[in-house]
Amino acid sequence: MSKGLEGVVAASTAISCIDGQNGRLFYRGIDINELADHSSFEETTALLWYGKLPNAQQLESFERKFQSNRQIPNEVLAMLMAMPRKTAPMEVLRTAVSALSAYDPDDLDNSLEANVHKSIRLTASMPTIVAAWHRIRNDLWPIPPETSLNHAGNFLYMLTGKEPDPKAAHILDTCLILHADHGLNASTFSSRITASTLSDLHSAIVSAIGTLKGPLHGGANEQVMRMLLEIGDPDRADQYIRGALAGKKKIMGFGHRVYKADDPRAAWLQRLSRDLADASGNRVWFEISERVRTLVQDAKPLPVNVDFYSASVYYTLGIPIDLFTPIFAVSRVSGWTAHVYEQYSDNRLIRPESEYIGPMDVRYTPLAERK
Ligand code: COA
Repeated sequence: MSKGLEGVVAASTAISCIDGQNGRLFYRGIDINELADHSSFEETTALLWYGKLPNAQQLESFERKFQSNRQIPNEVLAMLMAMPRKTAPMEVLRTAVSALSAYDPDDLDNSLEANVHKSIRLTASMPTIVAAWHRIRNDLWPIPPETSLNHAGNFLYMLTGKEPDPKAAHILDTCLILHADHGLNASTFSSRITASTLSDLHSAIVSAIGTLKGPLHGGANEQVMRMLLEIGDPDRADQYIRGALAGKKKIMGFGHRVYKADDPRAAWLQRLSRDLADASGNRVWFEISERVRTLVQDAKPLPVNVDFYSASVYYTLGIPIDLFTPIFAVSRVSGWTAHVYEQYSDNRLIRPESEYIGPMDVRYTPLAERK
């Protein structure tokens, strides 16, 4: 048995590849650095779904489909309005995605064509759910999507109602590219397990959202920011980290099952965090991050992962902490859906075995005899 399935190869995929020894990541064979430099989230999604970069005409048509599918049904909006205001955004997202299937015209169709339509609707509308919930919980009216903006810019617009700063929109777009897919990570595995029973695409994405939410996976970015806030000052990092490591606590944003070298996405996010710190004139979160990284990596040979610098990036962009993980989902849905198609295309039920370690042949004790 391999606890946590470490080292077990459970699927073949042509979507993304992690070179954990050398800290490299490829989508459909293209180095993530090239995509982060030149691509957009929309183009990267087309690459993940269709296996190659779209030409200009294909990209334009793909972007138009995204823009025209951002609205969520009024019934789903009404459902959001009825939810307790304290509900965490990841819970709201999981619930709303589940509800969206009831209103999807292709709900009962599991063909590839129908699944592509469902994926476009889902990927295009998940930012609308997150932004609408953020406004509703603050007693503000949701802002309808703006078709003239790209995916990242429109998300920032729907959060605030203000024309997004182009630099902020570009940074968010890069973050979405960097989070779009990542081998057989836990949430992607969940989505493939659900798809392998020939359940529907929405169910697979609901499974994935529930899995992403945990602090050992996508939830780590929120925990990183809470740690940076608790430290509060670069000079307090030393005491905090030494205390945490002595207490055998895990430092969020470090460690990875596959990477032995630093996660290549972290290098990008580190640069973005530094640029934002310089531009905003507030370097405190970046400087605490740098101090924490040095302290952790001097003490333990742990790679820094994607969640570490994304925390200070989102925070400096003015994004509320509990939207960090939903933003991860808004991006990763492109990878999840690609993996669901791939699973359906050559399906076999995913059903591992467990090693039973409990007692055997235990007698059934009638209720009256039980103490
Ligand atoms: N801080 C401190 N120690 C850590 C650590 C961290 N973030 N991550 C791993 N370690 C240590 C463990 O304590 C363990 O040490 P031990 O062998 O002395 O007991 C060793 O490294 C192996 O850790 P383990 O939890 O078994 O590795 P894993 O492959 O099962 O877990 C993660 C991978 C990502 C879940 C784990 O590194 C972690 O919890 N990181 C923090 C959460 C996080 O950032 N998640 C986002 C991942 S992208």
